[in-house]
Amino acid sequence: MYILGINAYHGDSSACLIKDGEILAAVEEERFNRIKHWSGFPEKSIKFCLDKYGLDINDVSYITTNSNFFSNILLKISFSLNKLINPSFLINQIIRKRKKTNLKNTILKSFHANKLIPKIINIDHHLSHISSSFYCSPFDESISMSIDGFGDFASLVLTKNQNNKIKIISRVLFPNSAGVFYQTLTQYLGFKNYGDEYKVMGMAGYGEEKYTKHLDKIVKLKNNGKFEIDNSYFNLYNKNFEFNWDGGTPTFNDLYNEDKFKQLLNLNPRNKNEDITDDHFSLAASLQSVYEKILFNALDYSQEISSIKNLCLAGGCAMNSLANGKIRKKTKYKNIYIPSAPSDAGGSIGSALNLYFKLHKQKKHFFQNNPYLGCDYSNEFIKNEIKKNTQLNNLNKFNIMNFEYNELINFVTKKIIQGNVIGWFQGRMELGPRALGNRSILCDPRIKNLKDLLNIKIKRRESFRPFAPAILKEYMGDWFDDTFDSPFMMQVTPIKKEKLNLVPAIVHVDGTCRVQTVDYKNNNIFYDLLKEFHKLTSVPILLNTSFNENEPIVNEPKEAINCFLRTKLDILVLNNYIIMRK
Ligand SMILES: [Fe+2]
Repeated sequence: MYILGINAYHGDSSACLIKDGEILAAVEEERFNRIKHWSGFPEKSIKFCLDKYGLDINDVSYITTNSNFFSNILLKISFSLNKLINPSFLINQIIRKRKKTNLKNTILKSFHANKLIPKIINIDHHLSHISSSFYCSPFDESISMSIDGFGDFASLVLTKNQNNKIKIISRVLFPNSAGVFYQTLTQYLGFKNYGDEYKVMGMAGYGEEKYTKHLDKIVKLKNNGKFEIDNSYFNLYNKNFEFNWDGGTPTFNDLYNEDKFKQLLNLNPRNKNEDITDDHFSLAASLQSVYEKILFNALDYSQEISSIKNLCLAGGCAMNSLANGKIRKKTKYKNIYIPSAPSDAGGSIGSALNLYFKLHKQKKHFFQNNPYLGCDYSNEFIKNEIKKNTQLNNLNKFNIMNFEYNELINFVTKKIIQGNVIGWFQGRMELGPRALGNRSILCDPRIKNLKDLLNIKIKRRESFRPFAPAILKEYMGDWFDDTFDSPFMMQVTPIKKEKLNLVPAIVHVDGTCRVQTVDYKNNNIFYDLLKEFHKLTSVPILLNTSFNENEPIVNEPKEAINCFLRTKLDILVLNNYIIMRK
């Protein structure tokens, strides 16, 4: 039984295909149309999922979405009436509802079909997030938390999951939202693009928490794990606020009430091009600290009412790897599972799995520890692509080679040790925001000024943002204070003090790393590359950053070739092929 899950008209539009409860394919639309966080109908993603398995749209049994307009409908209506919600917010909601109602027509048109056999089932937004985590985790029972801006009128949902059943423990409803709180202050710090919160997370390590007491005044934590936010500081529903999810990158007006925040912080909002001062770094550190208070208040409550030691996290805020890395230390949770796409992109998987396990209550869910669910390209395809580009872009001026597996590992490892920056393109593309060894830029983490070098050669990104390590899983205990499985790079953890100077390129200013653990089963070629590097250097770690240059991560070989040509990458590896500057 096939189910097609989609995330449409939300940020990170995506599609997935599951068969009998197992994920076969999942991909984000931005990788095809090259527009970051694209938010419309995921036509190309759906086509990829179906084509890869030779299916027609009418071969699937159900189509699921990760939003249900009728979730919390009575609460929505009463809130709108009581608070005299701003008209544009309501209009936006209704437009999106109409689009989703017209989903059937959009699908029929896109796939040139006369009739649609699969039924469209809408699953609540947060139940989709939670399902994307719990039904992919290795746990039979867990507490799960979905935490984001908001979806279907809620921003935080806690559930207890046992025997494939998901039971809601508590919900924080609109307009109280940790995600909106974080996004608002991210905008205040001058980062106004959708999804810029990770930049502020990077800034936090450089600041002092001198604004925490100010921000505490607008967030009221409650004993039941919930919280209230003083909404007079936010424009979300009490001014002429507008946002747009209608295709393209999602856009938002300024969420902050400038006068109120200026008064509270005695600090002006930062202009996009203004220098970043110590005050800005301190506001980032304080914001992170208050977000963590909200998170740990909810997690502490979940532990008061349950003795379960397994935690599943999802939702946009579950990408706060800095906070995630503190959970094992600050709570009694011993095991944490966060999927590779905790954001709305993973909602396509969550809605599909939620429906599957509603229909198959007795089945056990799979441990789906594989983020490599996107497109892949054969050596033959790559050979032809290189041939095409040899004429178009004069690739003759580079050395082009073709190696067997072991030769490739040995050659690339030696080149990394010589200080080269490698574009590493292998197998199926990762689902989610992190490159995990299939669409990665790799280099030697021992090089001191590597961060500057990478920024000159390719990345051109803010100097306060750290680069991350990938480590052979079995060596984690030798290099980090805490040992845990982190295959999707979703947790930050301190490196051992004595190791800090050995790998300066991947350690943040506060002595932490956003670590990826790599095992052979999940990614044999990346594992073997790390192993060879370890053999020659005694360091089981490579710097791993996403293969892109201010764009979505590369998907096709031609995008990797273009990125190589545009930048100063030293070597491009496409499966078994190597293109190297002479
Ligand atoms: Fe969400």
